[in-house]
Amino acid sequence: MKVVISVGGSILVPNEIDVDYMHELAELTNKLSDRHQISIVTGGGKTARKYIEPARRFGASEIFCDLIGITATRLNARLLAAVIGEKANLEPPKDFIAALKAMNFGKIVVMGGTHPGHSTDAVSALLAEYINADLLINATDVDGIYDKDPQKYKNAKMYEKLSVEQLVDMVKSYSLGAGKYELIDILAAKIIQRSKIRTIFLNGRNLKNMRTTIEGKKFIGTVIENG
Ligand code: UTP
Repeated sequence: MKVVISVGGSILVPNEIDVDYMHELAELTNKLSDRHQISIVTGGGKTARKYIEPARRFGASEIFCDLIGITATRLNARLLAAVIGEKANLEPPKDFIAALKAMNFGKIVVMGGTHPGHSTDAVSALLAEYINADLLINATDVDGIYDKDPQKYKNAKMYEKLSVEQLVDMVKSYSLGAGKYELIDILAAKIIQRSKIRTIFLNGRNLKNMRTTIEGKKFIGTVIENG
């Protein structure tokens, strides 16, 4: 099975780099890669924000801040590739053609951002579309998609299923500011919709759950119903 995993920066670099988590993710990826073609798109996390915020304060444009963000996502991709080891591509592909080439060499592709104006969630959706992936996993620090922010509201309810139209509707008013994407960006939602990509939102910290999801077993998460 071809699987693209978008790993939110909030898990990789919640405040400082979580190397232990990267190690566990790398072990899982290495194991799964015997039977599946795995690609990972890494978010920028705190590193992105720590650089974007002061740059913006000093008058940097949004595209400039996006480019800073992309650099942070690629930095995380490089580190994760180092932790995965020889099965990973050494150089984070800068576009989808380079990603496909690395895949065709049998590599676990680990990449960050590509172009300004969106987040790595859109990159993962575009990559999934490009390689005709069987599954796109959006891994964040919560179990799925909720009716309200579960980190603020104790009574927030998680959706087990959500139609792609509901997803698009939820994110359409979200900010496009550099370093400010929330659930996912509108481009990612629209790509998932147009190509009917099987998409699951889950907690990236729960790697056992990520494994059962990929293996087609029981899992906790939100399934996007699209067609
Ligand atoms: P992220 O994908 O980490 O954005 O990229 P995010 O969703 O805001 O952060 P997390 O994952 O929830 O922590 C960081 C920033 O890099 C720029 C954007 O400014 C984004 O907010 N970026 C990233 C791009 O402009 N293009 C890309 O392809 C990727």
